[in-house]
Order: sequence, then structure tokens, then C-alpha cells
Amino acid sequence: MHGNSLPQLGKNPIKEVIAELAVDEKVCLVTGLGMEMPGLPPSFQAPVVGTSESARVPGAAGSTYAVPRLGIPSMVLADGPAGVRISPQRKNDSNSSYYCTAFPIATLLASSWDIKLVEQVGRAMGLEAKEYGVDILLAPALNIHRIPLGGRNFEYYSEDPLVSGKMAAAMVKGVQSQGVGASVKHYVANNHEWNRNTINVVADQRAMREIYLRGFEIAVKEGKPWTVMSSYNKLNGTYTSERNDLLSEILRDQWGFAGFVMTDWFGGRNAVAQLVAGNDLLMPGTARQQEILLEALKDEKLDESVLDKVIENILGTLQKCPVFSGYQYSDNPDLKGNAHIARTAAAEGMVLLQNHHGALPLAGKIRLGVFGNSSYEMVTGGTGSGDVNKAYSVSLLQGLDEAGFSIHGELEKSYPGYISAETAKLPPRQPFTVPARIPERSLPDDEINQIALDTDVALITLGRNSGEFADREIAGDFDLSQAERQLLVSVADAYHRAGKKVVVILNIGGVVETASWRDHVDAILLAWQPGQESGYAIVDVLSGNVNPSGKLATTFAISVDDYPSALNFPGVVLEEAEPNDFTAVLAAKAAEVVYEDSIWVGYRAFNTRKVETAFPFGHGLSYTRFSYGDLRLSSGEFIDELTASVTVTNTGKVAGREVVQLYISAPPGTLVKPASELRAFGKTRLLRPQESQTLSFVITTVDLASFDPVDTMWIADVGEYTIEIGASSIDIRKTEHFQKTEESRIPV
Ligand code: BGC
Repeated sequence: MHGNSLPQLGKNPIKEVIAELAVDEKVCLVTGLGMEMPGLPPSFQAPVVGTSESARVPGAAGSTYAVPRLGIPSMVLADGPAGVRISPQRKNDSNSSYYCTAFPIATLLASSWDIKLVEQVGRAMGLEAKEYGVDILLAPALNIHRIPLGGRNFEYYSEDPLVSGKMAAAMVKGVQSQGVGASVKHYVANNHEWNRNTINVVADQRAMREIYLRGFEIAVKEGKPWTVMSSYNKLNGTYTSERNDLLSEILRDQWGFAGFVMTDWFGGRNAVAQLVAGNDLLMPGTARQQEILLEALKDEKLDESVLDKVIENILGTLQKCPVFSGYQYSDNPDLKGNAHIARTAAAEGMVLLQNHHGALPLAGKIRLGVFGNSSYEMVTGGTGSGDVNKAYSVSLLQGLDEAGFSIHGELEKSYPGYISAETAKLPPRQPFTVPARIPERSLPDDEINQIALDTDVALITLGRNSGEFADREIAGDFDLSQAERQLLVSVADAYHRAGKKVVVILNIGGVVETASWRDHVDAILLAWQPGQESGYAIVDVLSGNVNPSGKLATTFAISVDDYPSALNFPGVVLEEAEPNDFTAVLAAKAAEVVYEDSIWVGYRAFNTRKVETAFPFGHGLSYTRFSYGDLRLSSGEFIDELTASVTVTNTGKVAGREVVQLYISAPPGTLVKPASELRAFGKTRLLRPQESQTLSFVITTVDLASFDPVDTMWIADVGEYTIEIGASSIDIRKTEHFQKTEESRIPV
């Protein structure tokens, strides 16, 4: 048909290309080229064939097999959610560096509630990926913040599936607008790290559809990602990477996903079952998997047509990748421009939690007493695959200094010595792990008193770090340590005695306890982990250069026990169950966690059960005030959709942006429903004082519906619905009602 020439990918139908592949080539195409990781047993080492390409982009998480004679190149896949993660230095190449921009963490991005901004960050990340020769960026990650102790929450957006889904869709669009693929991960119900490679999540259908799958559904339908990454865990007894219902029925048939699915790195157990279920690519790929697949083909336990089908998915996506079109990447992305985007995004996602007596913004070029180890060594992002090898990071001190603030010199000089002395006492840090935190200083009272007299305002930064392989602890992590509490109280007492104000900066990746100490201090700025431009972005907000407009996309509860998920967190070890291969590598045990909290995650639980929080979902202050005009509905009766509009006016003295949240409370029906649920949100442009903007939201039937697990359908009941427009989930400014006279049943 092609004379003597072989069919070529892109020129000839994919099926013809696949028909030319030998069986062992097919096996190589569905298993990545492997990964070098110290301590892996031989069966986990890189595959036998094709390792030559793996070094094209050193430090990238993985790559795929090439078959040059058929025009199939090797794809490069690199993390991650806060920016591209590759090695900054290369062997035999001492003159160049390959740094990437460390953008703010996903939780910060979500707190901006600004979809356009997230898309812009996505474009910047996509461009960096492309210019460094990466084809697929292993981001966004959108697992639900089920409990604040989740070690990777910083990589994820929110406790709410709408916020998670919209943010992820925006990120996917941004990344893919640059011609590189995104990978929506970790699909699904991978909400904590404890025994993550073996844990069986037991969750009910309604919780899955409404909470855990919903964000992925939005991300897939709206973002159209080229790839999806299945998660490590089991769901109701079977690894997600081996579940046909998740990977084929829901993802492809119901949501229309058209790309390929890859496993998480070394995820799952049964390579044959994974491919049969629709998990197209096994990453990073191991020699053992290749042997197993070849044996299964020989023993007729695996049909070659399964390989053909998954290869079709992989090659279909590969054709869109930069490597396929022979893109000549520069290894020289616009790091300067992206630093600017990182700084803007960081400031937009910070949340002013508390601001008594107008403590912020800081007035003029005042004198500051800067306390807290993290003021001197900021946590710019979390650890593990969500980390980024950045060229530099801007400290708070640098930011303050460049903005013209004067800093108490003695105090400033004494911190670095303390930090290095304490750090030297720590055991050496293992690669990929969370660095141990050194204690806060215990400063003598007379010293603090003197500093309080010599300066105008105290800044105290408290820091937290976390990452892959471990969840956070309650003592000294969610809760403040004794030393932190001591520092905070002594500094606050001294400054308040001197009639001066105290500002706490939370440099954290996940929720901490605030209720017990917030009354000691005047202002609390939740800076999250703001990326490489940390110091600049924090000072932008402290100084009022940027008026804070972030709001919480995750609830700050009073105690961990207030989260319903705390009841069975992290789960139990199953002695009798068969362990996964990872038991040897990561000392993981077979384990199980029951999601007894069902749909009662985050504000859905707190607001329905009227549990008081420290700071509720959706909360965030501004340096200005906003008033909300009448809420107008396009109709008092819901037929197929309805538009709600509200005009927001800046009634304060400085320009600012407001996040407007639309909650719907549905009438009672067969299913128990949350008091209200976030169904839409928007953010105004920067409004000058007295300026107004009208925001409109379109409500569709699914926004009224709950998932009925018996009928496997979304059901919107007949009755009266309430629309609430809020400045937070409990600060409701306007309310209207509409009727629905006919029940709607929406198939999945
Ligand atoms: C993480 C993924 C990541 C992969 C590759 C895994 O440990 O769970 O999120 O993309 O490694 O680095």
C-alpha cells in the first residue's frame, strides 16, 4: 500500500502504523522508559529496552518509548502543579542552567478565585514546559481538601469541587494553549498520603459523584486535558488504575475524555488489569511490567487488541505534542516575564483573614520588628514532585527592604545565626522529604520590650511545609507549637503595651489552627506558600500596593476534630490483606479508610450543622468595602436555566476587587441536602472607589441537582430554591427565591 516505505505517524492512519509494530515494541510503548530512583529493587528499574531517550530532559519525571522507523518520537513528561520540575544543572554542561519559575501553590491560586489569572499562570507554565522540551506537564492536581492534614493539600485547590474543577479547567486551558499537554491528577479519591500506594478508600456513590469526581468532571469537560493520571489508591476494593468504570465508562463514555490515561508513578499492581481497564500508559515503566505483559500475551491472558487500543490513545495525543512537530525548543524561556506573573498571582491569592483597627496596610515607611524563622527563610512551596527547582527566591526581608521599610537591625542580624545553628542540629535531609522545622526562638522579655519600643509594628511569620509520602501532624503542625505560641504571645504583649500593632503572616501550605491565638494579634495575612517571588508579593499586600482580594477556598476550622473526616483519618491497617509491591520499597502497609463523612466535606458540613469555624469558607477581607445591590433573577420560575445578576459597588476609599459567591439551597427531597452549595462565583475587575460592576451567573439544571445513587442520576427536585449571594459562605448579602415546578432527572 505504501510501496516499500513504512507508514508514518501523522501521515498515515494510526491503525496502519500500529499494524507495523512488533509485539515487544507495543509493550514498550505502553510502559514508560523508567526512572532512576535510589533504593528501588531490580524489578522496578528502568525497562530493558529503549532507555537511551530518557535523558532528553534531565530531571523530567518520565518519558515514553520511540519507534523512529514509524515516525513515533519519545514524549517527555514533567511535574508539576507549581511549575515545571526538571534538573537545573546537567552533567557536562556547566555553563548553562535550566531553572524554572516557582509559581505560588495551587491552594493560593484557588484563593484568588480568579479563573483568568489561573489560566495566565497555566500559559506561563506551559510556555516554560515547551521551551525546555517537555511535552506533557503533570498538572493540575485537584484532589479535594478532605482534611487539612493531607500532606499534599498545597498541590490541590479546594475543599469544594466547583472551585477545584474550574481552577483545574483554567490551568489546563492555559497550559495547553501553548501546545503542550496537561495531566489532570490524581484520579481519584487520593486525598491523603498515609499508605497512599496501598490504601483502599471506601466511599459511597453520592460522595464520589458530588464531591470527589465532580471537580474532575468539570476539568475534563471544560478543560479538555490531553491526559489524565490515575491515582495510587484503591477505590472500594480495586485500584483506581484498574477500574474500568472510572477510566472508561465515566471518564470517556460519560465525560467525553479523548486523550490517554497514565498511572501515577509505580501506581497500582496488575499491569494487565490496568491496560484492560483503560489505563493506557504505565509510568514510569518498569522491566517487570514489560515481562508481565509479554507473558500475559503469550498465555492469552491479554489480547493484543487491548494494546492496540491503548496505543491508539497514546499516539493520538502524541501527535499534538511539540516533539512530534519537531519543535525546536530554546532552553531559554522568559523567566523574567514569568517571575512577574508569579508575583502578581501570589499577591492576588493571599487572604487577609483578620485586620483589627486597620493594622494593615502598613502606614508609610515605618520601622518593623521582624520575628519568626520563616520571615528569614520563607517556605516558597511544598516538597516532592510539587517542588520546583527555581533560580532564586525573594525573602520577606528583601521585599521589605526594597519597598523602603526600616527593619530592626539587631533582631534581623541575630536570626540567621540562630537558624543556621539550629539547622545544623537536624539530621541530614533525605531527597524528596519534608525538611524538619527548627523551633521558634525564645527571646528574653526585656529584649522584646526594647524592640517594641524601638519599632512601630511587629511582623511575625509562621511557616509550615509538607509534601509527598507523609500527612501533617496535629501537634505542632496543624496546632501551633509551644515555642510559636510563646513567641506570638510575648511579642503581642510587648507591642500592645507600647500601643503598637502586631501582624502575623501565615506562610503555610494547608490550614492551621488560628482560633486560640488570633485575638492576641491585630492582623493575620494568609500568604500561603507564594512561590519564588514570596517576599515581593507579601510586601505588595502589606504595603497596600495590592489590595488583598483572596478568599478562603478551604475552611479554617477551630479544631481538626471539627472536620467530619477526622472521625476515620487516616484509616486502619489491614493485617490480612495482600500487600502491594510497594510494601518493600516504601514500607507501605495494606490499609483502608472509610469516607464516612460522605458528602459532608468542608463548608457543606460546617454550615449545615452550624459548627462554628475560625474563618469560614469564602472568607477574606479587603482594605476597602463593597456593597451589594439587588439580586435580580431572569425569572421566578426555573425552566432550563436562569440568570442571576448583582451589582457590586466599591464603597470604600481605595481600589479593590471583590469575589462574589453564589450559593443555592435546594428544597427538601428524598436526598438529604447541604444547607447551601456553591454553584457559581466571579470576581470583579479592580473597582475604584464608588465604581460598580454587575456580575451575572447562569444557573443550569445540574446546579440544582443532587446525585441519587439508587437511580444513578442527578435529580433536581420540585419546590422553592433559594439563591444566596455572599461575600463568604456565611456572610450572605442578598437572597432571592425561584420555583421549579417539574422534577428534572439528568442521566450521568
Ligand atoms: C506523584 C505524581 C507525580 C509523579 C511523577 C508521583 O510520586 O504522586 O503527582 O506526577 O510522582 O513525579
